Amino acid sequence: MSDRYAVIGNPISHSKSPLIHAAFARQTGHDLAYEALLAPLEGFVQAVEAFRAAGGRGVNVTVPFKQEAFRYATELTDRARLAQAVNTLRFNGEQVLGDNTDGAGLVRDITQNLGFAIQGKDVLLMGAGGAARGVLLPLLSCGPNSLTLANRTPHKAEALAQQFAAYGKVQASDYPGLAGGRFDLVINATSSSLNDELPPLPPRILAPGALAYDMMYGKGLTPFLAFAETNHATHLADGLGMLVEQAAESFYVWRGVRPETQPVIEMLRKV
Ligand code: ATR
Repeated sequence: MSDRYAVIGNPISHSKSPLIHAAFARQTGHDLAYEALLAPLEGFVQAVEAFRAAGGRGVNVTVPFKQEAFRYATELTDRARLAQAVNTLRFNGEQVLGDNTDGAGLVRDITQNLGFAIQGKDVLLMGAGGAARGVLLPLLSCGPNSLTLANRTPHKAEALAQQFAAYGKVQASDYPGLAGGRFDLVINATSSSLNDELPPLPPRILAPGALAYDMMYGKGLTPFLAFAETNHATHLADGLGMLVEQAAESFYVWRGVRPETQPVIEMLRKV
């Protein structure tokens, strides 16, 4: 029987993870089945327990269960502990390893796929929710020249900056406070694109050669990427590459093999 994996969320029908992991399995010759599981909003733990009881080896966890998955794990990687969120669970008997591969996926997409070095750059990260928290440590590990964390509600950015102070210099800001700044890399980790909104960014904050990266993806440009295009960003990227890279990192956690991501990213662009 194939080894069983799944992605658990609510909603889940839109998830591309089954498609991505099926492609990874074909490519690496691993015999596994990967399904999408819809858990009731109050039923995450029951859904995971049932999947484990049926022989499941691991799950990806998505909205809104990443904090619950963090609490469910019996062991955590450093990056998951700092993110306070888990997107990957690996089951081994009674042991449940919790990991967070989102930040590694983002960094890998930017540095490997897009060929953009983060080291020495001035980086602006927008948002102070779970998505921003999940990518802070991997971003700081790249050694940027500066990392500015901007949020609509400034005290959340300040609190997050303080929590990560031990891992690198993070300065918190509100949006008006960004005026006059120049950034080489601007990452949108807010949920604004979901509502077709744009964080209130001042104009002219993109340095020559800048990369604008939206962690969301969809048809066409997100409002942030449209702003970046108008404001002369040199490179634009949505979060599809990150999605595939975080999946590849999860596959590695489960299977010990790192699949090739480029063909899978190309396949998804065509779908
Ligand atoms: P997630 O887990 O996706 O990060 P979240 O924890 O609800 O979701 O956080 C959403 C983030 O997007 C927050 O930083 C939020 O800003 P506030 O803390 O001020 O609410 C940010 N956000 C959402 N819509 C936004 C918008 N239109 N402009 C700017 N920031 C926005």
